[in-house]
Amino acid sequence: MPPETISARPRLSAVMSLLASAGLPTDDLREANLGHFFCAGSTDTPTGLVGLEVIGDVALLRSLTVTGDRRGLGTGTTLVEHAEQFAHNAGVRSLYLLTTTAEGFFAKLGYQRAERFGAGGHKSHAGVCRHLSGEFRVHDANTLMKAGA
Ligand SMILES: CC(C)(COP(=O)(O)OP(=O)(O)OC[C@H]1O[C@@H](n2cnc3c(N)ncnc32)[C@H](O)[C@@H]1OP(=O)(O)O)[C@@H](O)C(=O)NCCC(=O)NCCS
Repeated sequence: MPPETISARPRLSAVMSLLASAGLPTDDLREANLGHFFCAGSTDTPTGLVGLEVIGDVALLRSLTVTGDRRGLGTGTTLVEHAEQFAHNAGVRSLYLLTTTAEGFFAKLGYQRAERFGAGGHKSHAGVCRHLSGEFRVHDANTLMKAGA
């Protein structure tokens, strides 16, 4: 199957149902959040989704999912790369995400664990991050980010 085109701003009801079927969070999603959401296929019946929450030069990559019948065809990779390019063009230097299901997928795309140093000095894995610039940088007092690809 050929790669699908990527469009901005998928329909909210379609986003909700796709995320719910993948077991991903929907509680905080509103129409206003969808300006930084992208989909594969049509905006009415997308076959894949990804979203960004941009805060200055840092962004959270979220809501990545591909419908079961389209997995393994490169759609997830295309969606992440599209979101990365959008983020880069928007001045984002570091992308974070949280995952319990797809760490290996993101590792192939250059993401590394970001370790959070909690009270008492113990380390816990806060998420997975990638530097778009490839530099080491301390993001805030509690999070040490490691360089990605
Ligand atoms: C994770 C997901 C988006 C990947 O989408 P996809 O379109 O199947 O991904 P691609 O076809 O681009 O896969 C690229 C590579 O990653 C691998 N991969 C896919 N999903 C993976 C996973 N969950 N863990 C590890 N590797 C994975 C593929 O096997 C492929 O490897 P290859 O290049 O060696 O063949 C999709 O499996 C999905 O929707 N999963 C359920 C929702 C989810 O877990 N989302 C992540 C929330 S953070």
